[in-house]
Amino acid sequence: MRKYIVAGNWKMNGKQEQTQILASEVVNMYKDEVNNGVTAVMIPPFIGIGEVQRLAKGSPLKVGAQNCHQEESGAYTGEISAAILASFGLDYVIIGHSERREYFDEQNALLAQKVDQVHRHHMTPIYCVGETLEEREENRHFEVIEQQISEGLFHLSTDNIQRTVIAYEPVWAIGTGKTASAGQAQEIHAFIRDLLTKRYSEAMAQEISILYGGSVKPNNAAELFSMPDIDGGLIGGASLQSRDFIDICKAVK
Ligand code: 13P
Repeated sequence: MRKYIVAGNWKMNGKQEQTQILASEVVNMYKDEVNNGVTAVMIPPFIGIGEVQRLAKGSPLKVGAQNCHQEESGAYTGEISAAILASFGLDYVIIGHSERREYFDEQNALLAQKVDQVHRHHMTPIYCVGETLEEREENRHFEVIEQQISEGLFHLSTDNIQRTVIAYEPVWAIGTGKTASAGQAQEIHAFIRDLLTKRYSEAMAQEISILYGGSVKPNNAAELFSMPDIDGGLIGGASLQSRDFIDICKAVK
């Protein structure tokens, strides 16, 4: 059965006090209000992970990381490996967020290695894809997404592809307040599922969660999540407000 997931990517936000307040509010509100079986994930900056895990202990909330290095270990000052993240008990790791692709020049081949590291350590990668505004205007969005998916994921075994979550985040919708319409998002999600069907199988493709990200808010989440191929969301700005994040969790069908 396909999992429905709402993951809050805090990005570079979360000073100590905010981390404590936000995580404890999310944990408490989730316990009191959310009963639709959605898997909710908090993804703070690395340094906040321990605190968020402590606050989430005993609750159904999962905790993730925003990135990892492609090597197993070694002299890479300032970096963190999947092995370290796994040893601290993390569940999810975002790989290939558009901000990593754009500001840190992370390309599909490198991201494929990072995805492998996450699998090697038995965590779930949330592999992000999405086109820029320019690519969409040039009508190249299908081509760009196909390349991101095939180069980043299609080397995976059937076992590992089933343990992968995909997030479609059109770059032009991230932090801009411009959401893809539910129809536009559904079109891409169905396209991605079709690529998975062709590479693996229909049965396999049906098992994989594909999240939408890009200005998801409480007032547009239900419509997006009602689409047949949208299995939850990757939430940026709205995940920093406990009320909004919980309302988005509740919007899952
Ligand atoms: P916003 O929800 O702030 O647009 O960010 C989306 C995102 O990039 C989540 O990873």
